[in-house]
Amino acid sequence: MNLDVVVVGSLNLDRTYTMPMLPDAGETLHATGTMVSSGGKGANQAVAASKLGARVALAGAVGCDDAGDAVLGAVSRAGVDTSLVRRIPDAPTGEAVILVDGEGRNFIVVTEGANAAAVAPEPSAAVEAKVVVGGFEVRDESVIGAAALAESVGALFVLNPSPFRPLPAAIAGRVDVLVVNEHELAEAAGVDVDTESDAALASARADLGAAALVVTLGARGAVAVADDGSVVRVPAVTVQATDTSGAGDAFMGALVARMAAGASMVDAVAFAAAVGSYSATNPGTQLSYPTLAELEGWMVLPPAVRRR
Ligand code: RIB
Ligand code: NA
Repeated sequence: MNLDVVVVGSLNLDRTYTMPMLPDAGETLHATGTMVSSGGKGANQAVAASKLGARVALAGAVGCDDAGDAVLGAVSRAGVDTSLVRRIPDAPTGEAVILVDGEGRNFIVVTEGANAAAVAPEPSAAVEAKVVVGGFEVRDESVIGAAALAESVGALFVLNPSPFRPLPAAIAGRVDVLVVNEHELAEAAGVDVDTESDAALASARADLGAAALVVTLGARGAVAVADDGSVVRVPAVTVQATDTSGAGDAFMGALVARMAAGASMVDAVAFAAAVGSYSATNPGTQLSYPTLAELEGWMVLPPAVRRR
């Protein structure tokens, strides 16, 4: 397999319910829309990168059920190689219930299901990749396996520890780019990205044991902290958000697709912020991700990322 990106992560069946505002405890509301679609942070990131032109494989696990057929079908139709996704007979495919309110904000609950059985591919001469992506909807062993795969094939290891839990000690010093949102940064390093100085962000990067740190700020863009301590703040494209679910995964997929194509980290972060914004303008997770042509039709891209 000659790949740009290998994602080791989750696949879920997403059930999205749209409503003007969330119910209070004990309250029942009518949804104004529902949708069932392919999701899971790992699958979303893989699809986002593939739609933007990267050669991508996803390693993970689904059940031997209809949900597993549906998500595998959607992910492979988006061009992702799914030969590293295991089918588990005794666990259901992971599911997510996603509530989207009238401001496009999302509230998500996931069940682990078959994702508990996700494994990173064994390092072997058969896998070549430029970037390996790890995420936290799978267990620590898989995250550690992803780091080992990256090391053995000479790829960058990009980690998105979401939903957040403390980083396993075994990956300390092995993360090339750590991508967190502002809440995860506060939890991981006790740092408020809005009030802290650049020096504090640089030392948070060092404390977290990552060579580079990217903090996503939703509608406010992102902050990139390089290994030399330099801090660059990148604006998002301003949009009217319809559904922000999976926007962070769109960002992540776009980031690694651009990094695999040789872009600098700051260029890749700017591109990723635009893709995240694009995805928030459309309903759903994977369904809302652009191809390069769709992105070009939506905004003027700098020459470095235009289709050749
Ligand atoms: O980040 C969005 C994703 O979180 C959804 O697709 C859902 O499956 C959960 O994993
Ligand atoms: Na969306």
